[in-house]
Amino acid sequence: MAFTVIGFSLIQLVGEYLFTQRIRDDQRIAESTAQEVGEYLADFDAEKMYAAAMNTAQAEQSRILVLDPLCVVQVDTASQMNGTRFITSEISSVLQGAAGEYGFYDAGGAGAYWIRAALTAFSNVSSMTGIYAAAINHDGALAGVLVYISQVQEIYESLRDIQLKMLLWMGIVATAVLVFSLLVLRTITRPIGELNEGISRMSRGDLSARVSVRGRNEFAGLASAFNSMSERLEQLDKSRSQFVSNASHELKTPLSTMKILIETLLYQDPVDPGMTKEFLTDINKEIDRLNRIVSDLLTLVSIDNGMKLNLAELDIGSLLQEQVKRLSPLARENGVELDCSAKESLEVSGDALKLQQVIYNIIDNAIKYTPRGGEVHCTLAKSGKKAVIRVSDTGVGIPEEDLPHIFDRFYRVDKARSRETGGTGLGLSIVKQFILLHGGTIDARSAPGKGSTFTIELPLSTRKAEA
Ligand SMILES: Nc1ncnc2c1ncn2[C@@H]1O[C@H](COP(=O)(O)OP(=O)(O)O)[C@@H](O)[C@H]1O
Ligand SMILES: [Mg+2]
Repeated sequence: MAFTVIGFSLIQLVGEYLFTQRIRDDQRIAESTAQEVGEYLADFDAEKMYAAAMNTAQAEQSRILVLDPLCVVQVDTASQMNGTRFITSEISSVLQGAAGEYGFYDAGGAGAYWIRAALTAFSNVSSMTGIYAAAINHDGALAGVLVYISQVQEIYESLRDIQLKMLLWMGIVATAVLVFSLLVLRTITRPIGELNEGISRMSRGDLSARVSVRGRNEFAGLASAFNSMSERLEQLDKSRSQFVSNASHELKTPLSTMKILIETLLYQDPVDPGMTKEFLTDINKEIDRLNRIVSDLLTLVSIDNGMKLNLAELDIGSLLQEQVKRLSPLARENGVELDCSAKESLEVSGDALKLQQVIYNIIDNAIKYTPRGGEVHCTLAKSGKKAVIRVSDTGVGIPEEDLPHIFDRFYRVDKARSRETGGTGLGLSIVKQFILLHGGTIDARSAPGKGSTFTIELPLSTRKAEA
């Protein structure tokens, strides 16, 4: 639209310029000739009048008519209309007092017969012609009208030429702009369309939906953000169903064991009190196991739901000692030497119950996965603004390929051994979540057969520094 507006105003401007120029030239010539012939007309000197008009007409390649005030042709440089009456609107407005008037005519077009005759006689072809009527004054009175007829065909033609060229260029530019915009539009809308497709696939439940990332613009950023979001969702979905299946499996094992034990008891005949007692003890153990699993699961659920910490200033050293004391009987029973050098008293702002559970679980694991005659050491030290608790054992260790997974839910290196020792495979994942909630880190290093070391770092309380 802008091109069209600019194009047409340009054509208009050029046309106006060309025609104004021409009108001004014609007017100048016509007026000077009118002045020249004024005297001769008044004197009825036809010869001199003709000579003067002819002079100009030949020089300018135009036709000149000299009319008396009654519009009768006195002089026609083309010698065709002498004595006839000739009138156009320009002539009549000069007769009514105008100094001069310009008009355009198409010699080949419609119009009064005599005008056409005047024009075609001059050019003999269908062409655009300009007529300038100038007043011939003598002694302050209107003595006649000089009609200056000249072809303006070249101006029309050059204007049409410019018009055509402009149209051509406008066409080319408009097509180029259109093609370019379509291309740009396509590069913009295609990724949006693809993203849209991906989102609707995802909302229909297909979490494997991904979109292709092209280039490095904002759309590429959006696409890769979408991809990482859907990947994360897919992972989450997978781990959730994995979790449900693991949990059901873990719950099913003790239930099946109990079912077998109870059925055996039901069908024993005659009743053996010794066996009954033994079986009931086993059933009781399985119920304990179920209880442990369920309470671990509930803990995990409450962590997932955004568990709140019950924060207090804790002396981590004495907390460690307490747990060591709690676990010494187990260590003794397992024939493992447990010692702890936590002389320092370091203040940590944390949830006492949860940190107790953390330390209990780590030392409990160390004892359980260390064969008779082994050792478990724990230390507490200050490192920068952190309290570092380290629990190391001389136990079975953890194979390198299992090490990255031991904090996963239900992950156990040796299922049979873990079950034997009463583990649920949820201990370390709960430990990790608790540590993360406290803004700390946990790390495990191990060499199979040589033992493992668990290192926990907790940020020290800032209260002392403030005081
Ligand atoms: N100190 C350790 N020495 C060797 N293996 C360990 C130790 N601590 C944990 N593990 C391994 O990590 C697994 C996960 O530990 P955890 O989550 O506490 O489960 P579990 O209920 O089996 O103790 C254990 O089954 C065991 O294979
Ligand atoms: Mg454990």
